[in-house]
Amino acid sequence: MHMHKFEKIWLIFGVASLIVFLSVLGVSAFHQGHHPSSWSNIIDPEQVDETKPFDEPGLKKVEGKEWDYELVFVASAFLYAPSEVQIPLGSTVKIIATTKDVIHGFQIPGSNVNMMLEPGYIVEYITTLNQPGEFLVLCNEYCGVGHHMMTSKIEVVE
Ligand code: CUA
Repeated sequence: MHMHKFEKIWLIFGVASLIVFLSVLGVSAFHQGHHPSSWSNIIDPEQVDETKPFDEPGLKKVEGKEWDYELVFVASAFLYAPSEVQIPLGSTVKIIATTKDVIHGFQIPGSNVNMMLEPGYIVEYITTLNQPGEFLVLCNEYCGVGHHMMTSKIEVVE
């Protein structure tokens, strides 16, 4: 069968768009692979309130793990839940956090904790609290008009 010239052009065009499409897919797969969160750390941002452990934000004592407490934070415009928490001095804490809406920051000035909370992802950070006092949690990603008011407080108590 002899192909019409225009059919050939369209065929080439079709194959070329397929290649472009596949390489875009490849690029996004690559991007996912290099995301700081693993596949197990994904969450439906619409279902945060119903998804464990985010259905109960706050501090929870845990047994048989390398950390003593799990501290669950849910960020949303323009607050963190919990807004304040007390933790015994010397405990090792696993911070587990996500956002319900837009990108928020999660920084504790004076510590190594500086995370970005992206919708759909869960971030975790394990730290030992060796210093008593009050520590602010700050949002360091601009998230809207209430951005500068978005804080939480961690009190490390003896
Ligand atoms: Cu949340 Cu800025």
